[in-house]
Amino acid sequence: MTPVTSPPRGRAAGADGPPDGSGPGLEAEDVQAAFDAAVAADERIEPRDWMPDTYRSTLVRQIAQHAHSEIIGMQPEANWITRAPSLRRKAILMAKVQDEAGHGLYLYGAAETLGTSRDELLDKLHAGRQKYSSIFNYPTLTWADVGAIGWLVDGAAITNQVPLCRCSYGPYARAMVRICKEESFHQRQGYELLLALTRGTEAQRAMAQDAVDRWWWPSLMMFGPPDDESSHSAQSMAWKIKRHSNDELRQRFVDICVPQAEALGVTLPDPELRWNEERGHWDFGAIDWQEFREVLKGNGPCNEQRLHRRRTAHENGAWVREAAAAHAAKHTATHATGHTADHAADRTAADRDDRVEPAAAGPAQPNTAPDTAPDTAPDGAGAPSASRSTRSRA
Ligand SMILES: [Fe+2]
Ligand SMILES: [Fe+2]
Repeated sequence: MTPVTSPPRGRAAGADGPPDGSGPGLEAEDVQAAFDAAVAADERIEPRDWMPDTYRSTLVRQIAQHAHSEIIGMQPEANWITRAPSLRRKAILMAKVQDEAGHGLYLYGAAETLGTSRDELLDKLHAGRQKYSSIFNYPTLTWADVGAIGWLVDGAAITNQVPLCRCSYGPYARAMVRICKEESFHQRQGYELLLALTRGTEAQRAMAQDAVDRWWWPSLMMFGPPDDESSHSAQSMAWKIKRHSNDELRQRFVDICVPQAEALGVTLPDPELRWNEERGHWDFGAIDWQEFREVLKGNGPCNEQRLHRRRTAHENGAWVREAAAAHAAKHTATHATGHTADHAADRTAADRDDRVEPAAAGPAQPNTAPDTAPDTAPDGAGAPSASRSTRSRA
């Protein structure tokens, strides 16, 4: 068994005397029992608590995949920031895409508490050794896709993630609380965007319907393979990382979406969708798992483009990381020697440098690239005429 590197968790350690069962010389069986008891009692496992290696590696895999999905997920929508049909829509979309970067940050932070650095996880993402959600390998062809992503993709994410707020691992659960609040805003902005389109012209209504037609099935795939094929589900549920099965969550999502689609005035592209009185749920058609597996394998419409842009953005951002590290080192050194006056002078100089640098850098420097990249290299085929038609309404 795993060597014991830290005392086992106790309940409310420090508050009521020594943690239960803590102390040196504990047998591995004892810490395993303490872990099992904590999970059974719905307590949180914290970073310094003992945990089985497989619990740790399962969490790292899941949190990394989640973090990667947040930052790769910025790409399909960032593609539309420069072409948003109004200042209001642009501001909302920018805030949303920025939120996704923040979600990535919370999650990489949560993974770090398990002893895995962000650099290591990013290297694995860039090398194709860790996955992100297959949904982000589909292109955003029209402005309505921004609405469909908000409504369906963020909606599916919420359905998946609300139960994760009760995940047994403390840092992950707490990150999810904040993320879910923001996802809820994302879902509403998507719904409201689609509503503006479906209440608009015939062309706008058709554009909204087309987006829903393309995003519906991939959204259902976001819940992962069916329960009988899901290799990690049972163990994750036993550890209370996961609270509901893939199929259960998928059904919940379908049940939520059907009345919303009706209110929006769009049709969900599934002829087998019908209310099942006996089950008290909506029945739906078979999912094309072959397509899911292909996209997961890297053969989706945008896999290559997404990873290529991610790697390029990472390379272009190297100077920012170096500068931040150099600044942090200088800051630490200044504080260590207590030269506060010198530090204040340095700080002023640094602020001055910060102001001067972008102008001096000129348009070809990497720091200006992210702003222009999405627009100069549109995602997929693009539909400028459709986006223009939106301009007057949405
Ligand atoms: Fe997110
Ligand atoms: Fe989101």
